[in-house]
Amino acid sequence: MTHPIIQDLNRRYTTKKYDANQRISEQDIQVIKQALRLSASSINSQPWKFIVLESDEAKQRFHDTFVNKFQFNQPHATEASHTILFAHNPHFTKEDYKKVVDAEVTSGHLPAERYNDMLNGAFGFVELNTDNQGFNGHWTKAQTYIALGNILHTLARMGIASTPMEGVDAELIGETFKQELDGYQCDFALAIGYHKQDEDYNHGLPKARLPIDDVVTTL
Ligand SMILES: Cc1cc2nc3c(=O)[nH]c(=O)nc-3n(C[C@H](O)[C@H](O)[C@H](O)COP(=O)(O)O)c2cc1C
Repeated sequence: MTHPIIQDLNRRYTTKKYDANQRISEQDIQVIKQALRLSASSINSQPWKFIVLESDEAKQRFHDTFVNKFQFNQPHATEASHTILFAHNPHFTKEDYKKVVDAEVTSGHLPAERYNDMLNGAFGFVELNTDNQGFNGHWTKAQTYIALGNILHTLARMGIASTPMEGVDAELIGETFKQELDGYQCDFALAIGYHKQDEDYNHGLPKARLPIDDVVTTL
């Protein structure tokens, strides 16, 4: 299939080795940040933080979180141009949601007189996914994966290489970036940059996906 979207998605792949000398331009980083921000989420909750590790100091802190496990991902911490920590709010509250409804009104998306309808009505979705302790991290984490999918596609279009990493030490990241996370939880990260020619064994391999009829049913 020659559609440009299919070409982008066939071209993107999980990079296994980065060229430490190549950096993503500031202009492209701004596009990536906006694309993250524009990701969709249930009831427009946006229960996320994206922490972009750009400085050598921040990258080294991330590098050190691999001391106990998932060392196969560790080189990306310092060799990739940037890494994005995807974090979710494990206790998303009505106070948090108010900020969203405020933005709905100030942006002109929602008429002011419908403020309470949206706040109380849509928040029902959150309540359905919240336990007795106020934990709704399964639901908020699911939202951050939508942002991951969105940014993988964006990066494919931009020709920027990437590595999604669930192979990270969430506990150590929580300690190392405690201040920046501010109560949010990071369970996965995304290294981004440019691959190292001849040393990235995943580059150029064919896509290995299940047959379309196994995964898509048309009725
Ligand atoms: C949520 C998620 C977590 C992943 N975690 C890792 C990881 O820790 N390390 C790694 O090298 N690849 C990781 N991958 C890459 C997958 O193995 C890869 O996306 C899959 O094999 C499909 O290959 P492709 O991305 O090259 O198309 C992850 C992918 C996703 C979507």
